[in-house]
Amino acid sequence: MVTLKSKDGGRFSGYSGEGARVVTLNELESSAEIMSSTGIGEMDRVLGGGMVQGSVVLIGGDPGIGKSTLLLQVMAKLSAEMPVLYVTGEESVLQISLRARRLGVDPSNIELLTETQAEQIIGTSQSRKPKVVVIDSIQTIYTEELTSAPGSVAQVRESTARLVRYAKQTGTSIFLVGHVTKDGSLAGPRVLEHMVDTVLYFEGDGGGRYRVVRAIKNRFGAVNELGVFAMTERGLREVSNPSAIFLSRHETPVAGSVTMVTMEGTRPLLVELQALVDESHLSNPRRVTIGLEQNRLAMLLAVLHRHGGVVSHDQDVFVNVVGGVRISEPAADLAAIISIISSLRNRPISEGTIVFGEVGLVGEVRPVPGGEERLREAAKHGFSRAIIPKANSPRTSIDGLEVVAVSRLSEVLTSL
Ligand code: TYD
Ligand code: MG
Repeated sequence: MVTLKSKDGGRFSGYSGEGARVVTLNELESSAEIMSSTGIGEMDRVLGGGMVQGSVVLIGGDPGIGKSTLLLQVMAKLSAEMPVLYVTGEESVLQISLRARRLGVDPSNIELLTETQAEQIIGTSQSRKPKVVVIDSIQTIYTEELTSAPGSVAQVRESTARLVRYAKQTGTSIFLVGHVTKDGSLAGPRVLEHMVDTVLYFEGDGGGRYRVVRAIKNRFGAVNELGVFAMTERGLREVSNPSAIFLSRHETPVAGSVTMVTMEGTRPLLVELQALVDESHLSNPRRVTIGLEQNRLAMLLAVLHRHGGVVSHDQDVFVNVVGGVRISEPAADLAAIISIISSLRNRPISEGTIVFGEVGLVGEVRPVPGGEERLREAAKHGFSRAIIPKANSPRTSIDGLEVVAVSRLSEVLTSL
């Protein structure tokens, strides 16, 4: 038994240790000092400025989307400045060195470890003392404490817990690669998301060349921040001015296509929404979205019916965001509605029009954040007309941009 004397001279028993040290916030260094650049601007952007010492970042995405490629590129840059360790449980050292050759990066300072046992990985890290560790992938890692198979929820969770503890104790930054299951959540039902500091998701249509890395959770920066990359023969290349890459250029305006300005994170992005509304022969007509929320579409169709008198119960409705981008902000509502009307009536929206705005259940058009930035971005790319919520009207007019401000769905219908 330990007996300790407290400050006031009283005696306590069964109390061991002196208690954790208490600090005030201004004693701590500013985060800028413990944040370092990854050497890849778009990656720094999604991380909230750079990689924070001792942080654990989870990178999720479909197999083959480019997670290992991106991390190898990041590690190659970082290895010039600090010791790094790349732990692979999936690929052989030969495969990684072939990839490095293909990427044209200098792998000479990257230490590689083929290992899947968490204790061994931590042991090796303790002796090699890397500043940054990549674990590719967390689903292959197991801890000897548990008897369940690698990849099981318990194993993934426990191994992650160990690695997180190691990161916090030693100030080592860790990138965990995680595979996404069919239903879209990271294997190990989202438990990992709570355990790590930052969760990044890799998005993009498998066939297309653009990839978007999105911050879903970030203890050090904004969420929904996007990093945009293009997959080339020599790995991922940053797209630092991505605004219009997701637009398809139609020779003449086509029915069902609408351009919107989305603003996920801090950067406006022009994307095209396409709708196809077609007579249905099903008793339950189809409502399909790609890149948008399915329930949102059902809601918008109901609003359109109730407040706009537009009937679609005998129609299949498909809405797609071009380029494999996923939009989670309600600012896409107005664009979705207009593209649906355009397809239904088979009438194109006039050229040079952009749209954004949220639509509410009572048929009102609500403002969205970043209105002026969205408008400026559209004007910069040569758009000449904007259909937007009244409350988002710019205080001063924007050169070359005619603003059609609407506050009700009925006004939207007449403005078309
Ligand atoms: P990869 O990083 O292995 O994906 P993940 O780790 O997410 O499973 O990327 C695999 C795909 O990227 C593969 O289909 C080939 C393609 N790729 C290129 O197009 N260019 C390249 O330089 C590299 C290395 C891969
Ligand atoms: Mg991989």
